[in-house]
Amino acid sequence: MMKILESITFISYVFIILCTCMSMFCNNTQFPTNNGFTIRYSKKSLNSVPENLPPKTTILDLSENNIAVLLSSDFTSLSKLTLLNLSYNHIREFDAIVFRFNAELEHLDLSHNNLRNITCGSLQIIKGLRHLDLSSNKFENILHCKEFSYFLHLQYLGLSATRIQRSSLKEIAQLGTLHVIFLGLQNLSSYEPGSLQVLNTNKLHIVLPVYLKDPFILYDAMNTSRTLELSQVTCEKACDNVIEPLSTISKNSKVSTLIISNITVSWKYLNQMIEAVWCSSVEYLNVHHLIELGEFPYFVPFNFSKTSLKALSIQHWISKSVYYRGPPHPVQTYSEMMIESFTFVDIGMIHFMCPSKSSIFHFLNFTRNRLTDKLFQNCNTLPHLETLILRSNRLEMLSLVSSMTTSMKSLQYLDVSNNKLQYENGEDCHWSETLLKLNLSANQLTSAAFGCLPINVKILDLHNNQISNIHKGIMALKSLEELNLASNWLADLRDCSHFNSLAVLNVGMNFLHSLSFHSLQSCQNVRAINAGNNPFQCDCELRDFINWRTQTAGDILGWPESYKCQYPEHLKGTLLKDVHLSEVSCNTAVLLGIVLGTMAALIICILFLCLYFDLPWYVKMTWNWTQTKRRIRNTNPKDLPQNLTYHAFISYSQHDASWVKDYLIPNLEKGDGSIHICQHERNFVPGRSIIENIINCIEKSYKSIFVLSPNFIQSGWCHYELYFAHHRLFTENSDSLILILLEPIPQYLIPSKYYKLKALMAKRTYLEWPKEKSKHGLFWANLRQSINVQLPEHKQENKKVFNTSQEKDYEPDTVSLN
Ligand SMILES: *[C@@H]1O[C@H](CO)[C@@H](O)[C@H](O)[C@H]1NC(C)=O
Ligand SMILES: *[C@@H]1O[C@H](CO)[C@@H](O)[C@H](O)[C@H]1NC(C)=O
Repeated sequence: MMKILESITFISYVFIILCTCMSMFCNNTQFPTNNGFTIRYSKKSLNSVPENLPPKTTILDLSENNIAVLLSSDFTSLSKLTLLNLSYNHIREFDAIVFRFNAELEHLDLSHNNLRNITCGSLQIIKGLRHLDLSSNKFENILHCKEFSYFLHLQYLGLSATRIQRSSLKEIAQLGTLHVIFLGLQNLSSYEPGSLQVLNTNKLHIVLPVYLKDPFILYDAMNTSRTLELSQVTCEKACDNVIEPLSTISKNSKVSTLIISNITVSWKYLNQMIEAVWCSSVEYLNVHHLIELGEFPYFVPFNFSKTSLKALSIQHWISKSVYYRGPPHPVQTYSEMMIESFTFVDIGMIHFMCPSKSSIFHFLNFTRNRLTDKLFQNCNTLPHLETLILRSNRLEMLSLVSSMTTSMKSLQYLDVSNNKLQYENGEDCHWSETLLKLNLSANQLTSAAFGCLPINVKILDLHNNQISNIHKGIMALKSLEELNLASNWLADLRDCSHFNSLAVLNVGMNFLHSLSFHSLQSCQNVRAINAGNNPFQCDCELRDFINWRTQTAGDILGWPESYKCQYPEHLKGTLLKDVHLSEVSCNTAVLLGIVLGTMAALIICILFLCLYFDLPWYVKMTWNWTQTKRRIRNTNPKDLPQNLTYHAFISYSQHDASWVKDYLIPNLEKGDGSIHICQHERNFVPGRSIIENIINCIEKSYKSIFVLSPNFIQSGWCHYELYFAHHRLFTENSDSLILILLEPIPQYLIPSKYYKLKALMAKRTYLEWPKEKSKHGLFWANLRQSINVQLPEHKQENKKVFNTSQEKDYEPDTVSLN
């Protein structure tokens, strides 16, 4: 017991230590990734590059520390390094040979440091660079190194400067692979007009100076790349410096995507900006992270037709204006815009107007606003609308949402997830018949919602609702291909055979247990099914599921890690794939067969043993033997009469003497002197009468053994002995008679006057002398056992052998036993 406890304690110690090590390991944030080794030392207040970094490191993040100087030895051992992030440190300088052993480097981020200059030679070796960020440093001039021309793979280049000259961009202009040039010009003081236009890139991203003094840089930017992003646009009082250059983007400028981010502006100026690009080359206008200043002005809509703009997107809007005093909110009037795609995400919009005349909107995304069910009711002017996203708004009635779609003759995809939608049986429900994909996830829908679904829907997302069973209404959806019912309250699945075209079914995270496996079996047409994270009951029903899993041709998504037992308690948390239920424990017929078979075999076996080996006899003898043994163990020698000298007295007919002498006595005494037998031929005291001797012998013996046989019946003396012994049996109430039946005695042989013997024979169990030799051993053992007590200590009387020639067998009829 102690041993087990000790080992358990030891194992738990090892476990705790292991866990601690693991967590330390994780804190150190060193971990192997799929194709390398990553070390993250971000925000660790390091003053220098740590020493002894593992040579196999491929990704090293040292950003947001206090490193000021890079030494030439810092990265020498890291020849496998592909990404090095040193941004947000205080690096002022570094040695020209610092990267000489890092030829594999692809990403180098040195942004947000204090670099004033770098030695171009330091870049010589890292020719494979794809991403180089030197922005937000203290460079005065744009870095120009002839080494830039070695970068044949460079895709991203981040720079910053306070002065920009045409000549300094010459080398960069020659890079043909550049996708993005980022220019952090927060501190720009002088710009030589025309400089930017030499650049050759897909995207130009400029962080504008806080106070844009001369707008020449913007004029140039409008003609440099196809995608232009302007960040940090601040128009607090006046905005001409921005709006005027914007209005110069002509129909044949280069820019087709214009992104304006981190902009602080009032409505008036934002509108002017939109108006400025309305008739330009810009096709995609994306304004995000906008802080709105001032009150809403009275808004005069410009002419919304005639535009090259295809998509307008405004996202993340923080309004600092206090009052809204206008007639319609400007955004609402945007419904008159003739553009295809319109995105207003997270701008606090409470309503959007139905366009007054037929619009060309194909795509509307109004995620995260405050729109209600009133939206687009009875609105017939959205005939081209294909996608409508109303995720995370304040919609409440599914019936109103459905009626909203009826007049949308092209609507294919509607996303109303994350609202508060409900539906009650019997409410009106009319969906657009063109609707193919409907997202109703994260609402408050119950099973009743199956009565209100668009008839032609192919993809239906109902996850995270309150559906407790699948209503028959679903049978009407003949085209349904994908159904997501995850995170609902389903306790059982209906037969899924009536989903003719269903290919993908998700019923994960419900309350499905084993009973539901039957229904899964009917999902033969389903190509992929996810039933993970349900509270599975791992009993015999589970076998149906396992059978189904091996038979089905489809994918079981999330198998095996999301399929765990919940019940019974002892299997909780065990993966279904690790549960093994035997055929026997689950199949009652097999179980019954086995039990009955075993019983039959046992019975046959017993019968056989009884018939051929006399099993009952052995059983009886063994039982006797154990009983006697127990009784003898319990007898205290002190309880025995003090005059006991012999273990047994033997009474037998002279005709059976040979058996007694040849078998009985040798087998009882065994020659080891532990058992003493009183035998009249040996132990009779001369001088006393025969009767005296017999009585003496019986009284001094623990047991009296009578060898019964027909001969015994003939012998009068034997009856005499039996009479005394029996008498003693009753007077002392001791169990002192042992009868051995040497040969069967037919009842008629016993004379009727020997009723005592008859009674004894009838009542007492006697030992029968077995004829089979094999049984003799047990017979003797039994007999020995029943006489083998420890006699009280006292000197043996008459130890000497006394041969008497007295014959007992005389005068058989002269002694009366009465
Ligand atoms: C470097 O770290 C900064 C700050 O943690 C992060 O913003 C930037 O994206 C990282 N750069 C690269 C190339 O991973
Ligand atoms: C439904 O919307 C949720 C978010 O609201 C999204 O996670 C899920 O992927 C969408 N479902 C489909 C089928 O697009």
